[in-house]
Amino acid sequence: MTPLPFKALSITEHQQKTPLTLLDYVEPELAEGEILIEAVAVAQNPTDWKSIDTGRNILSLPWVVGGDVAGTVFKLGPGVTGFEIGDRVISFAERKTARHSAFQTYPIGDISRTVKLPESYTFEQGATIPLAFVTAGAGLEAALGVRLPAPPADLPAANKGEPLLVWGGSSSVGAFTIQLAKASGYTVISTASPKNHAYVKSLGASDVFDYHDSDVVSKIRAAAGDKLALVYDSISENGSIEASVASVTAPAGIVAVILAPNPEQSTDKVKVVQTGARVASEDPQVGRTVYGMLEALLEKYALVPNPVRLMPGGLLGINEGLQLMRAGKVSGEKLVYRVRDTAF
Ligand SMILES: NC(=O)c1ccc[n+]([C@@H]2O[C@H](COP(=O)([O-])OP(=O)(O)OC[C@H]3O[C@@H](n4cnc5c(N)ncnc54)[C@H](OP(=O)(O)O)[C@@H]3O)[C@@H](O)[C@H]2O)c1
Repeated sequence: MTPLPFKALSITEHQQKTPLTLLDYVEPELAEGEILIEAVAVAQNPTDWKSIDTGRNILSLPWVVGGDVAGTVFKLGPGVTGFEIGDRVISFAERKTARHSAFQTYPIGDISRTVKLPESYTFEQGATIPLAFVTAGAGLEAALGVRLPAPPADLPAANKGEPLLVWGGSSSVGAFTIQLAKASGYTVISTASPKNHAYVKSLGASDVFDYHDSDVVSKIRAAAGDKLALVYDSISENGSIEASVASVTAPAGIVAVILAPNPEQSTDKVKVVQTGARVASEDPQVGRTVYGMLEALLEKYALVPNPVRLMPGGLLGINEGLQLMRAGKVSGEKLVYRVRDTAF
């Protein structure tokens, strides 16, 4: 295949309102433990538009966003072992410089945030996984104290007879949280819009409730019995934290949230704890567990990727996807772009 040009979908103004454009760049130098990835597919996350609109985590201009990339190893940096040129990989882009973000033809990947992608997954499916999976795994392990089974142990773990609520099971993060909680031996209860109930059950939830229903909390409490202590709120806005807290039926509980909570949302009985993908890089033990689990699940073809909504236009098509997400028009799916669909 012909090499791609070095082009990045670039933010050129602070809080840019106009469509992002492609800018050229030169092939970057790699540091210890880094690889250059030839991107095949990239996926979009809410943090992409939030970063652009608020300026958060945009460290210089021009900047590039994007957390999820699937592709092949194009070049190895110093000290890299375990990867070879041409390997199929997925990587959770670090976004510490413009060159370490996903929305470009050759993003830099850190090997501690990269795993091999078996042939059983397409690149488009693979791109849906890294950022949301790591957020799910880190929150379960670090905030809720769920012990993810240590690969290569048999998966899933035996059922513990204990419930765990995942608020927002049709979201990208929620979908992976359900699968990880089930694989760790919990009976999973979740919430979603009715059109996504069958999908959320297919991921492993035993009961799914409509979060628009004014009785949703009492229905969850009735289904959970008196042992619901752990809640992963994969939405963490628009009343979901309060509803998650109210759903706890055990004498004490924890609600893990992935957006900043208001300190008053904790109660005497239920602690609201902030978590996020960042925990996996801040705590190397959590990182190793979560990426190890990811590798093991992929090898066993035991991880269901998010349903792919393939968007037209390659990297330039991301402009349309950003608008869809801003308008809240993404439901039970991940927006994915094939890099070679870009009109360079
Ligand atoms: N801190 C971190 O590290 C981190 C990492 C990843 C994501 N996040 C944040 O987590 C949130 C979710 O991200 P994502 O990528 O998973 O989002 P997403 O997949 O784009 O979310 C869309 C889904 O959210 C569901 N939803 C919306 N409001 C809901 C509510 N009140 N209750 C239950 N479900 C609701 C919708 O369900 P229905 O269509 O079924 O109604 C839809 O399927 C975003 O705010 C994101 O910024 C934080």
